[in-house]
Amino acid sequence: MSQRLPKLVIGNWKMNGSHAANARLLRQLLDAGLRGAAVAPPFVHLGQAALQLAGSGVFLAAQDVAAEAGSGAFTGEVSARMLAETGVRYVITGHSERRQYYGETDSLVARKSLRVREAGMIPVICVGETLAQRESGNALAVVAGQLQAIMDEGGVDLLSGAVLAYEPVWAIGTGRTATPEDAQTMHHHLRATVAARNAGIAAGLCILYGGSVKADNAASLFAMPDIDGALVGGASLQANDFIAICHAAEA
Ligand code: 13P
Repeated sequence: MSQRLPKLVIGNWKMNGSHAANARLLRQLLDAGLRGAAVAPPFVHLGQAALQLAGSGVFLAAQDVAAEAGSGAFTGEVSARMLAETGVRYVITGHSERRQYYGETDSLVARKSLRVREAGMIPVICVGETLAQRESGNALAVVAGQLQAIMDEGGVDLLSGAVLAYEPVWAIGTGRTATPEDAQTMHHHLRATVAARNAGIAAGLCILYGGSVKADNAASLFAMPDIDGALVGGASLQANDFIAICHAAEA
């Protein structure tokens, strides 16, 4: 069980949005007085969101980051330092869509997460199993294996004050959510996996659940002792849904 961390909700907008739609959505979130939640727009919209969110209780997150340190000839990449300078607080690393479509490995995820920490931001490190892995009974071993590989490369200190996100691939964008009990079992297992290396870091680790989190299932997920919040995709694009999930997190 975690140290009663305040629940965190992050909206991952993925490749969605436009200047007009973002301005409207952010205005609705600000009008609702959200405090402590974060949104992750595409890179090109981070500057717009930073201006609109400045001084508010809504934080900025990025969806990815370069694995390379410093700056240099890496066409198309965005460095951790650039994100920090733009006002980003959280950076998602190793989302399953990046693993699945762009071949990201645990080793790359670890290096990206290290860059995030070096730049003074908080990595949101994603792990999760496929449907085939769950159906073959290997979910716990697969997901803990991802986490072990990330800790092998980055060290357990990588997770100190960090955020881990458990996102079962079969639950993302499908409307199928893990049951609160199954998610709790996984979160507990992940915390124990970290505790085997450092109990203090494990107790302070914020573990989010992601995968079809909606206004009507958020509260039952948040009631679980090792679920410290949510990484929300589709529902974060609808102001009312995202606000309702954030309110469930505050309850
Ligand atoms: P959905 O909430 O749309 O299932 O997406 C989850 C996700 O991938 C968040 O990063």
